[in-house]
Amino acid sequence: MSKYITTPIYYVNGEAHIGHAYTTFIADTMARYERLKGEDTYFLTGTDEHGQKIEESAVKAGKPTQEFADEISATFKNLWDEFEISYDQFIRTTDEDHKKGVQKAFEAMYAKGDIYKDFYEGHYCVSCETFFPETQLVDGEFCPDCGRTTSIVKEESYFFKLSKYEDRLLKHYEDNPDFILPRSRANEVINFVKGGLRDLSVTRTSFTWGVKMPESLNDDKHVMYVWLDALMNYITALGYGKDDANMNYWPASTHFVGKDILRFHAIYWPAFLMSLDLPLPKTIGAHGWWTRDGEKMSKSKGNVISPKEVADAYGVENLRYFMLREVPFGQDGDFSQRALIDRINSELSNDLGNLLNRIIGMSGKYSDFEIDSKDVQKYHSKELDAMNEALKNLDGFMENLQTHRYLEELWKLFAIGNGAITGFEPWAKMKEGKVDEALATVALVANILAKASIMLSPIMPKTTNIIADALNFEINNESYKDLVLGENLLKLFNIKKVPPLFPRVEEPLMEEAPVAQPNAPKKEVKTDKKEDDNLIEIGQFFETSLKVGVVVEAEEVPKSKKLLKLQVDLGEDTNRQVVAGIKEFYSAESLIGTQVCVVANLKPAKLMGMMSEGMLLAAKDEDGLCLVRPEKPKKAGTPIG
Ligand code: MSP
Repeated sequence: MSKYITTPIYYVNGEAHIGHAYTTFIADTMARYERLKGEDTYFLTGTDEHGQKIEESAVKAGKPTQEFADEISATFKNLWDEFEISYDQFIRTTDEDHKKGVQKAFEAMYAKGDIYKDFYEGHYCVSCETFFPETQLVDGEFCPDCGRTTSIVKEESYFFKLSKYEDRLLKHYEDNPDFILPRSRANEVINFVKGGLRDLSVTRTSFTWGVKMPESLNDDKHVMYVWLDALMNYITALGYGKDDANMNYWPASTHFVGKDILRFHAIYWPAFLMSLDLPLPKTIGAHGWWTRDGEKMSKSKGNVISPKEVADAYGVENLRYFMLREVPFGQDGDFSQRALIDRINSELSNDLGNLLNRIIGMSGKYSDFEIDSKDVQKYHSKELDAMNEALKNLDGFMENLQTHRYLEELWKLFAIGNGAITGFEPWAKMKEGKVDEALATVALVANILAKASIMLSPIMPKTTNIIADALNFEINNESYKDLVLGENLLKLFNIKKVPPLFPRVEEPLMEEAPVAQPNAPKKEVKTDKKEDDNLIEIGQFFETSLKVGVVVEAEEVPKSKKLLKLQVDLGEDTNRQVVAGIKEFYSAESLIGTQVCVVANLKPAKLMGMMSEGMLLAAKDEDGLCLVRPEKPKKAGTPIG
């Protein structure tokens, strides 16, 4: 059976950051893993280039939209090329073939009676390219996902009959427990669907930067909703709507996505596919989010990490290893140089790099670099059994996308190798004249390194090729079948010297994050926590920076029923402007000089054209709203938590 692996297609409103690199690394790892196993694999990535957000970003950059999209799309492609991402295709939603494919799909759904024309009136968030029902808005006005202000949009729209697919979707989730991984994430999707699906507006008339309607509908007022356009990339890339050239790869084995876009992939996408009478993907793998030094990354804070910068400083394969080892798939992860350095020094340099150096050194001394596996079984059957046991467990972890467990299990091999050297002391055996025994231990370790390199190759392809070269074999499906599945040992060979693969890193190689919040969490000890979506780790709580603020100025926002504009002292160089929806409960004057609790690390957002750089904590029930304040006065800027 063939395999089809995809990343999300990345918006072209900004360059790649570490979160994008993470999805791409996992997908690349999976594609390489499947190829290693001999599977015919197709790996797709690309860029998502339509929609109001991109149009607005281009205007801001003062460039024609297509030119802007071309430039940013190229930065993604160049980066993935530099990182040697093994994609088979890089799709762009502005590709002509893609656009035609989307139109064909739209026509097919229309012909099926799943698309109809009506009016839509709703609250639209441009940033999220999503309509929200009033009940979901924060303070009746703000986007529940990003906190930005929504605008009321009334427009003629084509609708997709999403509601029609409710029962079939629920049945699919039930019958296919691996449709959403990790499984713990399925509940949020199932509950959302059970809550009732409304038909989905799938066209827009308020802007023009999108795929045009199919000619057969003769309605050029509309362009396609960006998510309909974007999701279709997974099939248009295979020739859907054109020549179906690669549709034999469909259905996808795994769509890798971030948890924020799971709903689009686990609800809308399968419903579209049902409408198109196409089979559903096997798995949607939803990963968590990356923070930096415990803080959300944001352009305004200037703490977004560029994957290129990290790769230039530490090596792209070390970064891949770190990201895939550091977090359980599905959970959030924190990037810090400290954590990266720890893993490079202890796991890569000590456990793996030293092991290779030690056997190169020993075989040079004892056998003129010749390594012979003939006595390994005789003296080390216990170690071989333990190694084969660990190797057998690997596939299950990778199939479940648990790369951290996969690597943990793989590292057992190095523990066995290092343990054998310490336990059997080949140098002592040499002194005692037990040459066969000493050489058997060296050969055992060479075999461990060979087998481990094969299985590490999807994560660290270049480094493991160097190891394989030193051990005189090539990493490919043949050696996988021979040395891993077949449990065979290396044939007689001469080991080659290699320069140290993982030089120790003594101090951070990049500048530290520009913003260090006083209450940023210390490095969390990551445990494989029970995956319960309703519970968060303490570190997640501390991602929110809460501070005591003093209201220095307050005034009403003209024409707004709800908003007051405040200047709040948070103990920083300048006051923060906070626009708060509290006018119905507080007069501006009554607030001046009082203390409030402020969420200090929210992305700044514009509310009625004014920048808001924080949010006040408040409690609201049927009797109204009251602000949450410190019990006793505290200095401006005092952290809460
Ligand atoms: N264009 C859509 C996807 C369409 S797929 C048919 C989109 N693009 S995105 O560029 O905003 O995000 C792409 C991916 O990056 C998403 O999976 C998102 O979860 C991921 N990440 C964005 N920021 C992230 C982190 N800080 N950490 C981890 N991943 C994050 O959504």
